[in-house]
Amino acid sequence: MFDSFWTLFAHDIGIDLGTVNTLVAIKGKGIVIREPSVVAIHKKTRQVLAVGTDAKRMLGRTPAVIEAIRPLRDGVISDFDTTEAMLRHFIQKVHQNPKGSGFRLPRIARPRVVIGIPSGVTEVERRAVQDAALSAGARQAFLIEEPMAAAIGAGLKIEDPEGNFIVDIGGGTTEIAVISLGGLVLNRSLRVAGDEMDQDIINYMRMRYGVLIGERTAEDIKIELGSATVQTHEKEAVVRGRELASGLPKSIRISTAEIREAISETIMQIVSSIHDILEETPPELLSDILERGIVLTGGGALIKGLDKRISDETKMPVLVADDPLTTVVRGCSKVLDDLDLLSKVKVTGGLR
Ligand SMILES: Nc1ncnc2c1ncn2[C@@H]1O[C@H](COP(=O)(O)OP(=O)(O)OP(=O)(O)O)[C@@H](O)[C@H]1O
Ligand SMILES: [Mg+2]
Repeated sequence: MFDSFWTLFAHDIGIDLGTVNTLVAIKGKGIVIREPSVVAIHKKTRQVLAVGTDAKRMLGRTPAVIEAIRPLRDGVISDFDTTEAMLRHFIQKVHQNPKGSGFRLPRIARPRVVIGIPSGVTEVERRAVQDAALSAGARQAFLIEEPMAAAIGAGLKIEDPEGNFIVDIGGGTTEIAVISLGGLVLNRSLRVAGDEMDQDIINYMRMRYGVLIGERTAEDIKIELGSATVQTHEKEAVVRGRELASGLPKSIRISTAEIREAISETIMQIVSSIHDILEETPPELLSDILERGIVLTGGGALIKGLDKRISDETKMPVLVADDPLTTVVRGCSKVLDDLDLLSKVKVTGGLR
């Protein structure tokens, strides 16, 4: 990946430590890691067996001695040791020399790291992320709030005196923020996002058909059929699960309309929070937003028709950012290029 060891000195990195996906970008080089936030560990020895894509394949399929863990839930660290192991794995993966000799970085060559975190996290949770990054090999770890990183990544002019409205719908959290003059004027972090929709689908299949499906299947259905408005081409898909009554496998044909109904309450919660924040927005900023539009980022922005639904219910223009799954990490890496901006937008960070 790198030309020589010495180039390591320049490799400051931006990390989007997401509940569902972790992305790492190297300053000046772009995104180098994009993997699920999953770690597989041996239950008895606590040894890490796999991280990322390899570990995700094991979710729901592990034998008794192996556990596949998602160390972040609802946007916060629920398992500190595993989060640290995951961060260490990714930071070291970025810094491995081409022959992969497992060489460890001397302190001077350790990266400066900018990490996007949900805006609703407590001081204790922030410290947990920072400590995890420092003990995973970072020389300095700066934290910036996810909606700020998303806005910067989406190319919004956040330092202007005009208002910007950003909604980042991830796996664990939905971040809604109004940004002006480099700061969050208003923000709300809802612990409801893509994961909740997966649970909605699991519940729907159980209640309506008496069939049990796993989280991965639910996510696949959501990505394929999930929508927030009626689609011109409504689709159907076959879902395989286990019938609760008989304990045997069963296939069910389900439609876009059913999945829309299943996730509708979660969509409603997101839409009504956006509504609440708009109501609290000062009128001057509101008129800027009316001009610039509400910008959607995060994987949840890809739910079909969500932009239209939000627009219908708020009477505001709504745009989906380019490549919404990478907006936060691109924002994190942009602030590494602009240390003035970093000092303005960081919530915490510095030397150990
Ligand atoms: N095409 C798609 N349609 C609908 N949902 C999608 C699509 N692609 C990804 N998602 C969903 O987006 C979510 C992941 O988005 P993202 O990577 O932005 O979250 P995250 O940053 O890991 O989570 P958080 O920001 O809450 O910590 C998952 O719930 C995933 O199922
Ligand atoms: Mg995110």
